[in-house]
Amino acid sequence: MANILAVGIATIDIINTVVDYPDEDSEIRASVQHRRRGGNATNSLVVLSQLGHQCRWAGVLVNEADTDIILTDLNKHHIDTHDCTYLNQGKMPTSYISLSAKTGSRSIVHYRDLPEFSFDDFKQIDLSNIDWVHFEGRNVDDTLKMLQWLKQQHPHLPCSLEIEKPRDNIEKLFDLPNLILFSKHYASHLGYNNATNFLTELKLPSATVAACAWAEAGAWARDKQGTLLHSEAEKLNSVQDTLGAGDTFNAGFIHAILQHQPLESALHSANQLAAKKCSQVGFDNLVNNTTEQAHFLCLKADLPEQGFREFKIQTEQGELALFISCQDGETTAYQNKCPHLGIPLNWETDKFYSMEKTHIQCSTHGALFTLDKGHCIAGPCVDQSLMTLDLEWREDRLWLSLPLNFSL
Ligand code: ADP
Ligand code: FRU
Repeated sequence: MANILAVGIATIDIINTVVDYPDEDSEIRASVQHRRRGGNATNSLVVLSQLGHQCRWAGVLVNEADTDIILTDLNKHHIDTHDCTYLNQGKMPTSYISLSAKTGSRSIVHYRDLPEFSFDDFKQIDLSNIDWVHFEGRNVDDTLKMLQWLKQQHPHLPCSLEIEKPRDNIEKLFDLPNLILFSKHYASHLGYNNATNFLTELKLPSATVAACAWAEAGAWARDKQGTLLHSEAEKLNSVQDTLGAGDTFNAGFIHAILQHQPLESALHSANQLAAKKCSQVGFDNLVNNTTEQAHFLCLKADLPEQGFREFKIQTEQGELALFISCQDGETTAYQNKCPHLGIPLNWETDKFYSMEKTHIQCSTHGALFTLDKGHCIAGPCVDQSLMTLDLEWREDRLWLSLPLNFSL
């Protein structure tokens, strides 16, 4: 897992759950009030930490009572705060949030008068063991200097930038990050009513990957070739709390990129995680309750009509070798591991047939397995079976679903 540094804010979120949004010049009662830590960068770190990464936060803290709420939560999620700047005076940024019980959507009134984490602070950070730096697109001038310095001093250290709100000259930041995560809010402010047009018309260096989350429509990404990809949002029966859905999506997407998942799979897993966030209050136990990891395999057109195709994919547990068997219109996935010695079945790429093409055959000791069930009918592991894996077609795209507790 990776060492991740995020530069951005932590806030105090005062969240009032209301039956419905109040009309202007009216008064309603909140059914419940929570005070908890918020802020985009730290929200994303809390999720990244649950995904197994070592996380560090660089931001500004004030010596005041509310800071305890923030530090307690960050501490609970094992987030290192040694890179933060401490101020003796001031107030932690505070968000006054109305959370609609009807829709799960939120409206935020944000108050801050705190100086931002500066370039001078950033230069003090030892980045030697950092694998990924994530920035919130906030104070444009200093963030630009941080990005430039990072690229100069650590040209191979990948970094991402979150663009949530429109700010003067924010486009100045777009040339340097490896990944830019845009919000629907930002694209809408520029006049776009969909992510496709926004990402198509966006001017970015060709090596930059861009993603744009679009609430219940899911999320889009643009790869280094300029190709657009989309993944639907999960269908939720009940939306509880969308506060930080975008921050969760960003964390899930960064995690997937760090795992070298293809962009389509990255979009899908980030959507799944963000949906999980929307279906519960707060960020705790977001990851533990997820039961499946999904991996994009290939397009239908990339499979043989009759025969096999091998894959190696990176999973939470390590590299998984598998092959797809395509027989008379049926598609089955097997782990490429003979039950006899636990070694790959084939010697040559995509070659699994027995001589007569009636079975799958292990090249080492000749065990024969049925094509439809992977059951061994002859050889040293007779009566044992190849491990079958779950496949899912999403239109013409083939995905692999693995239980989170899957063992290699
Ligand atoms: P934010 O407003 O926090 O920046 P979005 O509202 O765009 O973020 O949502 C981010 C991601 O959260 C979406 O891409 C989607 O995956 C998920 N999401 C948001 N709202 C819903 C919803 N109603 N149902 C399912 N997933 C949702
Ligand atoms: C959610 C959030 C809240 C915070 C606000 C700051 O994305 O980070 O936790 O109060 O946005 O803009």
